[in-house]
Parts: sequence; structure tokens; C-alpha cells
Amino acid sequence: MNQTTSFFNLIQKDIEILNNNLKKMVGAKHPILYAAAEHLFKAGGKRIRPIIVLLVAKATSQNSTILNEQRRLAEITEIIHTASLVHDDVLDDCGTRRGIKTVHSAFNTKIAVLAGDFLFAQSSWYLANLGQLEVVKIISKVITDFAEGEVRQGSARFDITISLNNYTEKSFYKTASLIAASCQGTAMLADERKEISYNLHLYGKHLGLAFQIIDDILDITSSSTVLGKPEGSDLKNGNLTASIFFCALKNKQVQKSIKREFTEPNDIFNTLEQIKNSKGIQKAKDLASEHVQTALQCLKCLDQHNKDVQGLKYLANYTLQRLY
Ligand code: IPE
Ligand code: IPE
Ligand code: MG
Ligand code: MG
Repeated sequence: MNQTTSFFNLIQKDIEILNNNLKKMVGAKHPILYAAAEHLFKAGGKRIRPIIVLLVAKATSQNSTILNEQRRLAEITEIIHTASLVHDDVLDDCGTRRGIKTVHSAFNTKIAVLAGDFLFAQSSWYLANLGQLEVVKIISKVITDFAEGEVRQGSARFDITISLNNYTEKSFYKTASLIAASCQGTAMLADERKEISYNLHLYGKHLGLAFQIIDDILDITSSSTVLGKPEGSDLKNGNLTASIFFCALKNKQVQKSIKREFTEPNDIFNTLEQIKNSKGIQKAKDLASEHVQTALQCLKCLDQHNKDVQGLKYLANYTLQRLY
């Protein structure tokens, strides 16, 4: 048994419970809305966020148990994530997701906007029903952050003057905020100690940043067959992610192509080749790796011999190794 298999065994039963619950939770009276919402749950996804939540739950409990509220929070987290993907795919003009058609290409944009809103609304309802005001406050902020991140990204398209700091902040709002808040919220449900929930917030934040940086690298280096979503779409859309940013800093030709928004034939192809052959990819990997190191430091407040804490460490390292 390899390390990945034994790691997933640690949490597999809980993910099966989660998958069954998700299907029950997302109900809609109107068949179109139902079909749109169900569409993405049927296709699956890696379930990274609920895996993190469930491991945080186990790691912060005395005997590796998961409270019902924490299971619910794992489900809410996946619903919020899926809702944000439905909207993100409209914004990124993305035709496939998780290997199947996106909601806006299977139905239309209006339905996709509604389906995304519908999922956000359902997540809010389940969140409110947790009856834990502090957790509600922390998680509901994530939906605002997501919009902030997408708007920041949309306003910075093809802008080669952006800084690495802009990119990191945008990635926090878009991606890391949800992981940070769900780790913090999960810890708060079981443990009163602020030090623990704060460190888990930071763990989620840095893991989330690393996760997004690697997603952005895979967009350049991988293929749509492996990813289940189109490759090269960040560049086409003018989203200057870390490796593109690092490459453009040193390469005048790449800067020119970006500035003219790839209007010359072969601009996109040539730029992709230049990025792949530059040090940009490795620099972005190094940046992701720094965030993983910081995430690992944040786990120091927990028992290092605990197997669930080791699972959280494994997961942080996994973000750097993942292929899709
Ligand atoms: C995709 O997230 C969006 C990002 C934040 C990079 P995932 O890679 O976790 O997508 P699924 O849920 O496995 O489809
Ligand atoms: C993450 O950014 C999107 C969300 C947080 C919803 P991306 O735009 O890179 O995600 P993918 O590549 O479409 O999955
Ligand atoms: Mg996208
Ligand atoms: Mg991406």
C-alpha cells in the first residue's frame, strides 16, 4: 500500500458519508435548478476541502471523533466551493469542469448564475442551522471574499504592472479564505482555545495559497484530459498567475505579447512555450513550497504523534505533488 492509499483510507468512510449527504442536501423544486445543482455533485471532484475539515475535526478531538456539526461544516464547505466554481466558470468562460460540461455550457449563463446563487443560499441555510454564531460569521465572510477575489482578478487582466503581492492577495480572497475559515470554524466547534483555531486558520490559509499556486502551474504544464478542465485558460484570459508573472519579469517578448492581449497569430502558443522553458515554473513551485512550510509550522500547536495531525501534514505536502 503506498502512502497516498493509506492516507485516503484514514478518511475514506467519512468521505462516503459526505457524498451521500451532499446529494440529500442539495434539493430544488424546479427540475432545471435541480439538474444544474446536481450536475456538479454527480461529477465529484477531489473533495480536498472536506477532507481537510474532517481531518482537522479528528486532529482537534480527544479520541479522533467527528462531531455532527463538523460533518455538516465539511458539507457546507464543499457546497460553497462548488457554487464558486459555477460562477468562476462563467467568468473564465470555461467549457468543462470535473470532466463534464460546465453548468453554463450545458444550460446557459442565466441558469449558471442562478444555480451558483442557489448553492450559496443553500450553504447559508445549513450554516445558520448550525446555530453557532461565531462560526456563521467566519464562514459567511468567505462568500464576500470570493467575489472580492474574482473582481480583483477581472480588473487586473493583461496588466503586467501587477505585483506578486496583488497575486497573493487575490489568491487569498478567491481560494485560501474558504480553506482558512473552514479549518478555523471546525476547530472552534470542538475546542475553545483561540490559539488552536487561529493556528488552524493560518494552516488553511497557507495550504490554500499553495493549492492555488499549483493549480495555476498545472494550468500551464498539464492537459485537459488529466485536469478535467481546459489547460492554458489563465493565459488566454490574461490572468497573470505566478509562473507567468515570474517569466514576464525577465522576458520582453512575453511582456509585449501580454500587452497586446495576444492579438498576433501564435502569441498564446509562443508565450506558453516561453513560460514552460523559463525558470518561472520552478520559482512558482518554490513559492508554493514556502507556503507549505508555513502551513506545517502552524500545526506545531497540535500533538505531532497524532495520526490525524500527520494526515494534515501529508495533505499540505500533497498540494505540491498533485497532478490534477
Ligand atoms: C479548483 O479546485 C479551484 C481552485 C481553487 C484551484 P479543486 O482543484 O479542488 O477542484 P475540484 O473540487 O477537485 O473539482
Ligand atoms: C479558483 O481559480 C477558482 C475559485 C476559487 C472558484 P481558478 O479559476 O484557477 O480555478 P479553475 O482553474 O477554474 O478550477
Ligand atoms: Mg477558473
Ligand atoms: Mg485554475
